[in-house]
Amino acid sequence: MRKIKVDLGVRSYPIFIGAGILGSGELLVEQLSTRQVLIVTNKTIEPLYLSSMQSALADRNVKTCVLPDGESYKTLEVMQDIITALLEHRFSRDCCLIALGGGVVGDITGFAAACYQRGAQYIQVPTTLLAQVDSSVGGKTAVNHRLGKNMIGAFHQPAAVIADIKVLDTLPERQLSAGLAEVIKYGLIRDAEFFTWLEANIHKLKARDADALIYAVERSCLNKAAVVAADETEQGLRAILNYGHTFGHAIETGLDYQGWLHGEAVGLGMLMAAEFSRRLGWLTAESVGRIRALLEQAGLPVRLPQSLSTSMLRELMAVDKKSRQGNLFLVLLKAIGSSVVTGDFNNQYLLETIDSFQTSMPGSD
Ligand code: NAD
Ligand code: GLY
Repeated sequence: MRKIKVDLGVRSYPIFIGAGILGSGELLVEQLSTRQVLIVTNKTIEPLYLSSMQSALADRNVKTCVLPDGESYKTLEVMQDIITALLEHRFSRDCCLIALGGGVVGDITGFAAACYQRGAQYIQVPTTLLAQVDSSVGGKTAVNHRLGKNMIGAFHQPAAVIADIKVLDTLPERQLSAGLAEVIKYGLIRDAEFFTWLEANIHKLKARDADALIYAVERSCLNKAAVVAADETEQGLRAILNYGHTFGHAIETGLDYQGWLHGEAVGLGMLMAAEFSRRLGWLTAESVGRIRALLEQAGLPVRLPQSLSTSMLRELMAVDKKSRQGNLFLVLLKAIGSSVVTGDFNNQYLLETIDSFQTSMPGSD
């Protein structure tokens, strides 16, 4: 088992990574300092992993809250169901919530924990690759508003993260690929050596080789932990974790969150940001080719969906929450493994970049 520390002074916590580490429940019990425990999960994960967790915690006062599955349920209304469960069971502030699920369960449970009696503990038990390498680490919690994704939230760090690679066995193929987009992100923004490792090992990750997955999750979490420790509340550096997300969110919003997964949109967004960096003269065509090849091997789309026009995407990018004081800021690459956040770029090149990803432009490779 690997252990990484997210170093945040009194809010520091461990991330445990391994295959089968949820198994006997011993590790989870060790991390739980409270008697009152609310496990929050969803209807898909419940039949797979809930009962073994309940058995492992038989000596505690354990209750469960099973949410409907899907991004559309990451709302204040559903979050209130978690709060209602805590109140109905008369849980005090000195309780612990366990988020057993992907990023949706993790985000909403973390936010409920942040709000319950002004702050209860929670432990992340991420069950998707995306959640293991990204959303369970760093303390960003949120629910969506009908006018915007993740618009209601708080920074609230978990007490521990337990990432068991074994649970990825049941994850659908497309979800695995979506998680790989976030893994590749770390190589692109700050870890060139990891990017090269990913090029050599992507087939093992796709085949769910346990050792390769453990290494990829560990290296991703090391990168994320370092960035979060340096800039917990995103005053500066942490913004690099949003690489590809401004393009990606525009794709997701343009598609009304239907059809493409978040990781798929981010994956294409990362390629678009790389191509834009090339047009600005910062990145070589060879590097863009390597990025495209890795994303394709990961099973991610490298073309825009037909329904999204260039002007529509450009407009949607302008309303992204990462635009500061009305100006659009983008995370771009100076090289594989080296990123910058900038608002100083040529808009015409940006439009040409988006154009080059339109499916109707076959010569754009
Ligand atoms: P998700 O939570 O919707 O999970 C994807 C699907 O896989 C769901 O249907 C889920 O029920 C199912 N699933 C989960 N684990 C499974 C397993 N082991 N076996 C079978 N099925 C399983 O999606 P996600 O990609 O994990 O997370 C996306 C969410 O994460 C978004 O809401 C996004 O905003 C958020 N996010 C948050 C952060 C952060 O820093 N807090 C970072 C990135 C993404
Ligand atoms: N996923 C972006 C962040 O945690 O900052």
